[in-house]
Amino acid sequence: MFEFRFADRLIAWQRSHGRHDLPWQVSDPYRVWLSEIMLQQTQVTTVLGYYARFLARFPDIASLAAAPLDDVLALWSGLGYYTRARNLHKAAQKVRDEFDGVFPTTREDIETLPGIGRSTAAAIASFAFGQREAILDGNVKRVLTRVYGIDGFPGEKKVENRLWDLAESLLPADAGDMPAYTQGLMDLGATVCSRSKPACTICPMVDGCVAVRDGRTAELPTKKPK
Ligand code: ADE
Repeated sequence: MFEFRFADRLIAWQRSHGRHDLPWQVSDPYRVWLSEIMLQQTQVTTVLGYYARFLARFPDIASLAAAPLDDVLALWSGLGYYTRARNLHKAAQKVRDEFDGVFPTTREDIETLPGIGRSTAAAIASFAFGQREAILDGNVKRVLTRVYGIDGFPGEKKVENRLWDLAESLLPADAGDMPAYTQGLMDLGATVCSRSKPACTICPMVDGCVAVRDGRTAELPTKKPK
């Protein structure tokens, strides 16, 4: 049988072609968390400046929790989706009040914080703590539905559950590889495996990709049924 070794390929690709210069590629969970929230709806180039200014004013969770909400919103001004900033502030206060000021270390506990869903919690757990937790955002859904030829609208619960199971089955065995693996998955989805013009010729998965084999990259992921 053809041994695909998805995780090994992704990690090797990330180490040679991925980004290693991003300021949030650190192990401080607060810095990782802030970056993931900013990056949810905003591009990397825009986030960089906001991220630096935010950290200069609020270098840690304690300073963020103690700040007036208006100061937090002022630093968010221009980024949009202000619920993100309100939740960030609320979550910092929850860490202070319910977690003794220490950012929680399990995906389950991280997920209890306002504004953090399963995938973002998993990203933080894998980047900051090297935990074997799977992410599944829109970009990752695109990569997995194409490489594994999975039909059905990914917004549908049944399809989404199947994708979560698949994402978990693909994780590298060595937890030490988790930051490179998770970043590689994000980078592959954001750059190579793009929505309308995927760069399949430079993709590390091309020889095993079901969508490429069947000429279906334009059809996958399946669009929302009308
Ligand atoms: N988008 C979401 N998280 C990201 C990250 N850690 N690096 C680059 N883009 C991202």
